[in-house]
Amino acid sequence: MGQLHKVLSLLADGNFHSGEVIGKKLQVSRSAIWKTLKHCRNLEIDLHTVRGRGYRIPGGMELLNSETITQSLNQKNVKRIVQLDILDCVDSTNQYLLNLKTNLSGYVCLAEKQVAGRGRRGRQWLSPYGHNIYLSLLWHFSLSLSRLGGLSLVVGIAVIKALQRYGLADLSLKWPNDILYQDKKLGGILVEISGDVAEQCRVVIGVGINTNMPKNTAEKIDQPWIDVASIIETTPSRNAIAGNIIDELLTMLPQFQQQGFTSFLKEWQQFDSIHQQTVYVHTANEVLEGTAEGIDEQGNLLLKSGGKLHTFCSGEVSVRKMCSGC
Ligand code: BTN
Repeated sequence: MGQLHKVLSLLADGNFHSGEVIGKKLQVSRSAIWKTLKHCRNLEIDLHTVRGRGYRIPGGMELLNSETITQSLNQKNVKRIVQLDILDCVDSTNQYLLNLKTNLSGYVCLAEKQVAGRGRRGRQWLSPYGHNIYLSLLWHFSLSLSRLGGLSLVVGIAVIKALQRYGLADLSLKWPNDILYQDKKLGGILVEISGDVAEQCRVVIGVGINTNMPKNTAEKIDQPWIDVASIIETTPSRNAIAGNIIDELLTMLPQFQQQGFTSFLKEWQQFDSIHQQTVYVHTANEVLEGTAEGIDEQGNLLLKSGGKLHTFCSGEVSVRKMCSGC
């Protein structure tokens, strides 16, 4: 555990702590503590200073904790986790798992911060320290690549169920797997597959949920978005939500291995946010306007355009026309 994490563990209770007391507890100089606290401000952690009383994080802060996370899991799923790593800072939790030389299913990684968090289609995923959920899970499928179609849609269902278990309603999915709350983006999923062996696939499933974004984030994200804190009007528990997500994933992935996407089709349809809407599908080569007609048994998007039914296995959907220069 680094110095920053140790200092934040003390301040997490929301009470005042003087620099002197923090220094004594951690056995480091006051100037070292002062530097760490300065770093906290750079990380956009809400830190208050009152002369004579010290420092505090108003309302406290919940750091990620593996024991608290596993409390949300049923016993069967606890056994499915081979390892759960909680990192302070990493380039990307997906990359961390992709770099591992293991083929084990059930390796989970969460981080307080990502410096190179990535979204779909090469985008950056904003990942400030201690504010949101950045979670990845390594899973090994005894399936060929061609049978993994629809996996990311299943992950979308798992995330929605996890958030519903936490008490959220009005959630939906925008194909392939944007998690929406009242048409604003609440989270995203990035599934990355390493190695294409005929009957085996090593898959890293990455989930990012906006739980409690720093106040000045609005202008840094180029689409309508929301966080859990704004929905429930209080600070959410990242550990509880992350635990729910892991639990749902560990329940649904073995089912996907055995039954494929077909067994999830009906469930996905309930959350389809664009069904029968006029949308634009952006692929590498074209933008096609049409009516979203749901998905097929492999999880491909069906779009009616110019009297024809088009099928998309990848792409980006926008409900409004995107500006070509944007
Ligand atoms: C999207 O563009 O909607 C997908 C976003 C996925 C972000 C998550 S955060 C955890 C994991 N690590 C990453 O670098 N990306 C995913």
